[in-house]
Amino acid sequence: MGSRLVGYGSYLPERVMKNADFERIMDTTDEWIVTRTGIRERHFAAENETVVDMAATAAVRALNNANLSIDDIDLVIVATTTPELDFPSVGVQVLGRLGATHNTPAFDVRGACTGYIYALHCARAFFTAGIHRRIMMIGAEKMTRFIDMADRSTAVLFGDGAGALIFEHSSSSYSGIIDTVVMADGRDFECLHGTNDHKISMNGPETYKKAVQCMPDAARYIMEHAGITAENVDWIIPHQANLRIISSCAEKLEFPMDKILVTVDKHANTSGASGVLALAYAFDNNIIKRGQLILYPAFGSGLTWGAALIRV
Ligand code: UT7
Repeated sequence: MGSRLVGYGSYLPERVMKNADFERIMDTTDEWIVTRTGIRERHFAAENETVVDMAATAAVRALNNANLSIDDIDLVIVATTTPELDFPSVGVQVLGRLGATHNTPAFDVRGACTGYIYALHCARAFFTAGIHRRIMMIGAEKMTRFIDMADRSTAVLFGDGAGALIFEHSSSSYSGIIDTVVMADGRDFECLHGTNDHKISMNGPETYKKAVQCMPDAARYIMEHAGITAENVDWIIPHQANLRIISSCAEKLEFPMDKILVTVDKHANTSGASGVLALAYAFDNNIIKRGQLILYPAFGSGLTWGAALIRV
């Protein structure tokens, strides 16, 4: 039993924070941010805007795109690391916000920047087992809750937003979520983690080194597992953390940069929303076409990493 993608939606907060806006409030430059990260701007949620608000808007847009209602969905999985409430899950709150009446189950996955791959992994397992027939996965983050404006080394890197994808079961195993792999190594958790006072603690250069190793490894592993080579892949959508990390992955995989989707310049690092927002951006701008094969490698706090292979 496989799946197919039937809808997508995304939400980016209205406020756009450009590098020049950081120049005004901290000791940084547009030149440093662009050359070290590739980031030019990011969206910042309003103070009273929550992860649930963003996730619910992306969910409604995905449902409209698929011409479905929330009661047509039989499982919601949300990848988020920045929920306002410890409980209940963002997924259940989204169901409430959308007025679901069919006792649809929902849960959150905390995989940091790899969260959306972990969510896709869960969705694939449920389709393969024949347990759920129509699953909405959402990646939603309010990274600004963790941004410390006194720390220029992390403040400029992150953004807020949400994306949603709806998959339904299919008899074909060559469409939708074809394959996934997820990994973790808790020994390196101090490289990148949230602190008790809601700040980001990151050893940038160490995290960078791990990212340029783990993402290509996961990409190679999943291609081998699926019995394909890079020539069979139409697009790679890597986790959007840093353009230099993305370019290094492309080089290691001998994959042309013009087939690598880059949104880090516009969205910065939106953690668990990153790949979902990037795919929605690609559809909205007619960059990626229905039927194409996408390789999705990701990497994040944990350390966690993994990849998904999706025919959209
Ligand atoms: O989502 C997955 C997790 N995140 C990542 O994948 C991030 C991985 N790491 C990175 O992307 C990069 O390590 C950074 C972009 C975070 C930093 O780039 P870097 O080339 O590794 O810089 P660095 O940390 O080695 O810092 C170089 C210099 C330092 O100054 P000194 O000590 O050489 O005088 C920093 O203080 O750059 C300075 N610096 C800044 N300068 C201007 C750090 N942040 C800034 C800033 N503006 N915003």
